[in-house]
Amino acid sequence: MSDQQKSQVSAATPTAKVGAVYEPTEYVRQQSWIDSMAVYEDLYKQSITDPEKFWGEQAQQFLHWEEPWSEVLDWSFGDDLHINWFKGGKTNVSYNCIDRHLHDGRRNKAALIWESDERRSKVYTYQSLYTRVCRLANVLKSHGVGKGDVVAIYLPMVPELAFAMLACARIGAIHAIVFSGFSAQALRDRIQASGAKVLITADNGMRGGRLNPIKAQADEALLECPEVEKVIVVSRTQQQVNMEPGRDVYYHEEVARKDISRHCEVEWMDADDPLFILYTSGSTGKPKGIVHSTAGYLLGASMTSKYVFDLHDDDVYFCTADIGWVTGHSYIVYGPLSQGATSVMFEGIPTYPDAGRLWDIVERHGVNQLYMAPTAIRSLMRSGNEFPATYDLSSLRILGSVGEPINPAAWEWYYHEIGHERCSIVDTWWQTETGAHMITNLPGITPMKPSSATLPFFGVQPIVMGEDHKEVPVGEDGRLCIKFPWPSMVRHLWDDPGNARFKETYFSTFPGLYFSGDAAMVDEDGYFWLKGRVDDVINVSGHRIGTAEVEASLNSTAGVAESAVVGFPHEIKGEGIYAYIVMKHGVEAGPELSQRLAGAVRRNIGPIAKPDVIHVVNELPKTRSGKIMRRILRKIAAGITDKEQFGDLSTLVDESVVDEIIETRPNK
Ligand code: WT7
Repeated sequence: MSDQQKSQVSAATPTAKVGAVYEPTEYVRQQSWIDSMAVYEDLYKQSITDPEKFWGEQAQQFLHWEEPWSEVLDWSFGDDLHINWFKGGKTNVSYNCIDRHLHDGRRNKAALIWESDERRSKVYTYQSLYTRVCRLANVLKSHGVGKGDVVAIYLPMVPELAFAMLACARIGAIHAIVFSGFSAQALRDRIQASGAKVLITADNGMRGGRLNPIKAQADEALLECPEVEKVIVVSRTQQQVNMEPGRDVYYHEEVARKDISRHCEVEWMDADDPLFILYTSGSTGKPKGIVHSTAGYLLGASMTSKYVFDLHDDDVYFCTADIGWVTGHSYIVYGPLSQGATSVMFEGIPTYPDAGRLWDIVERHGVNQLYMAPTAIRSLMRSGNEFPATYDLSSLRILGSVGEPINPAAWEWYYHEIGHERCSIVDTWWQTETGAHMITNLPGITPMKPSSATLPFFGVQPIVMGEDHKEVPVGEDGRLCIKFPWPSMVRHLWDDPGNARFKETYFSTFPGLYFSGDAAMVDEDGYFWLKGRVDDVINVSGHRIGTAEVEASLNSTAGVAESAVVGFPHEIKGEGIYAYIVMKHGVEAGPELSQRLAGAVRRNIGPIAKPDVIHVVNELPKTRSGKIMRRILRKIAAGITDKEQFGDLSTLVDESVVDEIIETRPNK
C-alpha cells in the first residue's frame, strides 16, 4: 500500500480521541500577537473588571475617530433596553477600511484577491478599492441615496459586492444584503421589510459552473416592490437580460459616467448609526432584521480579525463564506480590510471543478489563514486525502471553523491533513447578532480541545443558565447567555417599534441577560462546549433556517393541512430538515407530493431550506392546549423509536398518534 493509500484509509476511519487536548505549536506561537495565556488572562480580566477603560483604549487603538466620544457605554438589558457605545463619537467605516491605508504604507497592497468560479483571479489594491468605492458612492448619491437610506443588495460573490458595501458605508447608507441563493419571494420580503428604494444586483451568478439567473429572480421580486426606483445591474456574464427602461441601469456604465468623480468625501457617522441590516431566522414569524452599528461593530470585527486570525501585514487571509451571511460581512470585508489585510474572496464552491479547489487556492495565493465551516470540512474529508496531499499547504498557519460545533472527526482531519499538525484551529462561536467572535481560542496559546470553542474573547461575559434561572454547575448543560454588552452586538431590530420583538426574542427568557438560543456546557477548565440551538432554528450546513418559515411554505402547498418541521443529525450538513406532513381530509398524498413540497420551499425561501425527509402522517402529536410536541418529533426524526425515551407523554391528546408516526417512519 502506498503512503497515499494509507492516509486515505485513515481518513475513511478517523479516530477522534475523546477528551484529547492539543497544545498549540511553537510555529504559531512565535509570532502570535497575544503570545501567552498569562497575557490573555490579564487582558481578559481588565476587559471585564473595567470594561469602559478597556474598550475606550481599544477603540482608540483600532479605529480612526473624526470626533471623540463623550461616553464609552450606556446600557440596560432591562425594561429600558438600550445599548449605546461611544456616544458622541464620529467615524466612518469606509474611511477605516480604505482611506487610512492610503497613507500608512499599504496603498499598493492587495486589499482583495478575487478568485472567480472559472479559476481566474483579479487583485484590487487599496488604491483601486478607493477609486471604485468612491465612484460607486457617487453613483448612489446621484440617484438620491443619502445618509440613513436603505440599499438592498442581491449579488453573487463578485468584487462589486464588497465595493457596494463600502460605498454605502461611505455615504451613510444602510445596506441590506440578501444572500443570492435566496428565492425571489424571500428577496421580495426582505426588500419590503427594509424599505429599500435602490437595489444592486447582477445579470447572473456563476457557481460551480452553473448559471444562477439573479436578474430574473430580482425582476420577479420587484413586481411587488414598487418602492424600488433604481436597480443597478452588475454584468457578470455579459448575457442579455431584461432591463426595465427608466428603472434598470448597468453598473459598469454608471461608474464610467463623465459626471462621476473618483473622489467621494466620507459622511462622518455617529458611532451608533446603523451600518447594515442583515435578516436572519428565528423561531417564530418573519426573519428578523438585525441592525449593526458603525463604530462598535467595526471595533469587534477588526479586533477579532487581528487577534483570532493573528493577521500580520504579509499574510494572505481566506474566508470561504458567502458575503450574504454575517461571516462574510465581518470576516471577508469589514474585519480584514479595517486591518489593512489581504482578503481572498471566492466566487465558487469547494468541490468545483473538484474537491481540490480550496487547496489549489491556498497554494496559488499562499494563504496563511483559512476560515471555513464544518459542513465543508466534512464534505472535503469524504473526498479523500489525495486532494489536499497534491497541493502545497505549507503557507497555512491558522485554520478557522464557524457555523456549528465541529465534530471531533472533522477537527482531527482538519488538524492533521490540512494543518499538518502545526496550525492552530480556532473554533469561533458567534452569531449574526453578536457581529463578531465571542467564544474562541487564540492561536498559538490556548490549548485546544476538539469540538470546544474554548474561552471567551476579551470583554465577553458568558454565563450558562438553567431552567431554574440559576447558573448551572460545571459539567451540566444549560442555556448560553451573555451578561454584559459588547461593542459589536446587535443594537435593535429593524422596524420594531418600542423594541418589542428585540426584548421578547433576546432579553425575556432570562431577564437581564442576552439569550443566544444555544445550549452549552462549561467544563472544569472553564471551556465552553456548544450543544446546538434550543429554539426552533435548524442549523443546516451552518445556515440558520427557521422552522416556521419552512412550515409556512409547506402549508401553502395544495392538499396540505398542516406540517411540522424539525432538525435531525445529518452526516454532512450537521442538521438536516425533516418535515412531517398532514394532508387535508380525503386528499391522497400522491407520488408527486415531495416534488411539490420541495418546489414550494424553493420558491418561498431557496434551495437551502429544502426538506431532506418528507413523512406523511395522519396527525401530529398535540397537547391538550393544541401545541405540537416537537421534542417527540425530533426524537423520531433522529431515529429514536423507543417510547421509553420520549419523556412525559401524559399531556398528549392521543398517544396512538405517536405510535402511528413511529410505524410509518421512512427507511426504518
Ligand atoms: C448559530 C448562529 C456566526 C457565523 C455563522 C452563523 C451556531 C456558530 C458555532 C461554533 C458551535 C456555532 C450557533 C449559533 N454556531 N458558530 N463555533 N460552535 N455552534 O451565524 O446564522 O447567526 O448562526 O450558529 O448555534 O447560535 P448565524
